[in-house]
Amino acid sequence: MARFITFEGIEGSGKTTQIQMLSNWLEERGVEHLLTREPGGTPIGDMIRRLVLDPIHSGITPSCELLLYAAARAQHIEQVIRPALEDGKLVLCDRFKDATIAYQGFGRGLPLDLVLGLHEFDVLSLKPDLTLLFDIDARLALGRARQRDTAKSSDENRFELEGLEFHQRVRTGYLEIAGSEPDRFLVIDARGSVAEVHQRVVTEVQRYLETRGAPA
Ligand code: TMP
Repeated sequence: MARFITFEGIEGSGKTTQIQMLSNWLEERGVEHLLTREPGGTPIGDMIRRLVLDPIHSGITPSCELLLYAAARAQHIEQVIRPALEDGKLVLCDRFKDATIAYQGFGRGLPLDLVLGLHEFDVLSLKPDLTLLFDIDARLALGRARQRDTAKSSDENRFELEGLEFHQRVRTGYLEIAGSEPDRFLVIDARGSVAEVHQRVVTEVQRYLETRGAPA
């Protein structure tokens, strides 16, 4: 049976490193799966990603930002995620709609019923089976994100330029969403070394696949 697993967390929580490590771990065990991300995962989604994250676009309004993420998601679901699930594949996605609730809802302050209402639109109504939330103090996480950018000489995205309070609101938002859907969420302590966090992820995912059944 197909399974849809998403990874969420604030900037610097380590979720992207961890999703890649889980993908490698599954590959070594011959579990067929698809690794994808949001915004992105399709050529149109990748263009929206560049547009929406580029610090040059500081004038994007919160509503425009919300609709751009939703547009990228609609394309991603229809073109990539649903077909993979229908094929019986396990799908791992780096961020999904909880990111929109946390960032555009809690972070930007858009009304939550508006953000949730948008996701009632048929194509966007797809729900993950399991969501791993990488939880970490915002100050610690931002420090990590900035170190990573310096080490890789990569540019900060528009969100990394936001102040600490923004990221604290996003973290609070994520924890609230997780608290309201305890059956879907696993909150992973994202502190510690990459190897320690990977071990936590593997333990949880293994337990989940054993109890719910691995994909065919
Ligand atoms: P990242 O996943 O590589 O960290 O970058 C994606 C950025 O986009 C991150 O700063 C969070 C932000 N984002 C939103 O604000 N809303 C969304 O719906 C998604 C998917 C991402």
